[in-house]
Amino acid sequence: MQIASFLAYLLAAALFIIGIRRLRKPETARSGNTIAAVGMTVALIATLFVIEFESLLLIGAAVLLGSVVGAVTAQRVQMTAMPQMVAAYNGVGGGAAALIALSEFYHLSEEGTLGVVAGTTIPLTVLVGSVSFMGSVVAFSKLQELAFTGSVTFPLQQVVNAVLFLGILVLAANAFLDGAILPFIPPVASVLAVLFASLVLGVLLVIPIGGADMPIVISLLNAFTGLAAAASGFVLGNYILIIAGTIVGASGTILTRLMSGALGRPLGKIIFAGIAASGGSKEELEERPVNDVSASAVGEFLSDEANKVIIVPGYGLAVAQAQSVMKDLVEVLEKGGTEVLFGIHPVAGRMPGHMNVLMTEVGISYEKLLDLEDVNPEFEDADAAIIVGANDVVNPAANDPEKDTPISGMPILEVGNAKRVIFIKRSLSPGFAGVDNPLFYDTDNTMMLFSDAKQGLEEVVEAVKNG
Ligand code: TAP
Repeated sequence: MQIASFLAYLLAAALFIIGIRRLRKPETARSGNTIAAVGMTVALIATLFVIEFESLLLIGAAVLLGSVVGAVTAQRVQMTAMPQMVAAYNGVGGGAAALIALSEFYHLSEEGTLGVVAGTTIPLTVLVGSVSFMGSVVAFSKLQELAFTGSVTFPLQQVVNAVLFLGILVLAANAFLDGAILPFIPPVASVLAVLFASLVLGVLLVIPIGGADMPIVISLLNAFTGLAAAASGFVLGNYILIIAGTIVGASGTILTRLMSGALGRPLGKIIFAGIAASGGSKEELEERPVNDVSASAVGEFLSDEANKVIIVPGYGLAVAQAQSVMKDLVEVLEKGGTEVLFGIHPVAGRMPGHMNVLMTEVGISYEKLLDLEDVNPEFEDADAAIIVGANDVVNPAANDPEKDTPISGMPILEVGNAKRVIFIKRSLSPGFAGVDNPLFYDTDNTMMLFSDAKQGLEEVVEAVKNG
């Protein structure tokens, strides 16, 4: 049985790796996801064969409950709320790893068989798992705007965090050394104290981080959960936990680095600086004139003057579910001989790859979807940049050295280089980061079509057809 389950774990690990590899390209991502899910099923079934018979009922009930909750919530969640869901699931994983490690410590110290490996990895698992759990709870609350919105700071916050972290290390050492450092705290109580102190640390680490940086934080916490799962694999002597945890930890770390690069934010600045509030404190909008146009004016311009158009989709397109009518616009423009490209910013929308998913859902070909670096040189000879329900990702305020905003330093799509900039959005409201966009007020080059994205695009399509 041991050999069979070992081989099953090996198969599961291979399926995880093949699955993740296939996630690299949109064409193969769907099957990659399925392959990784099959790997997880293999691992789950193999685990059922190695556990004691009396635990089967309890574990079976937990698997059933978890599967039902997971399936129902994943079916129901709006795509725009995906980061919250990832935060929630991630937190649960970290919390589970911490609790498993705690109970394992209890058993091993009762039996008197706590070795060096368990003695060091258990407090580490409890620490990382608890930080990941509570950090994810705070991230969820911020994104759902339930609590801690913006950046929550207090004096000497970093010092408090450092002292807390040192305290956790001392308690962990005390648990490992059988109470030799703090004789009045028994080992199991020390691990419990590590758990509670780490929960507090998880809250304190995430509350100062502004909403605009939340995607990076969630990815980082995801990497933490992977680390906690891998460490609990050492505790339990379970290979699949070590392998899967390491994969999650490594891929989460890579994603975190990629996203912090895309947002122009060094990780240290995000975690330790407590950047200005965002996602809540909207700037006062200036009373300045704008070039408010009708859909027919946009349609007329596109049919008469646009040979090359670059479309920039953003969060508002997802909210309005306007992807299908966006495809209609592409078709009608291409029919009239206009070249159409898309500029996809890495953090457009509310989750990594959000815009790619929407565009490919309606069959817009991958070749038209250009990344930031590839599309930016294209704006110079574009007749129009049409920005649909986006703001932050095209906001030149991000690169204004005079301004210190939540998006400062983030590379943007340089739509201002196109001959004409056309915004389709409902108002002058800023986006997620709450930063006003100077392009709105460029009355010579910018056309503002104030409308819901779907309705506005429908009207523009009609106008182009008639024009
Ligand atoms: P935003 O800057 O958030 O702008 C979205 C715009 O859509 C708003 O200005 C809003 O203006 C408009 N809008 C909302 N509903 C609309 C509708 N029904 N029809 C038309 N327009 C509508 O979006 P973005 O440019 O895509 O930037 C994304 C932001 O989210 C970045 O700051 C990013 O850091 C952050 N974020 C990203 C992620 C990931 S990983 N993608 C995750 C979390 C947060 P009106 O109200 O005037 O219509």
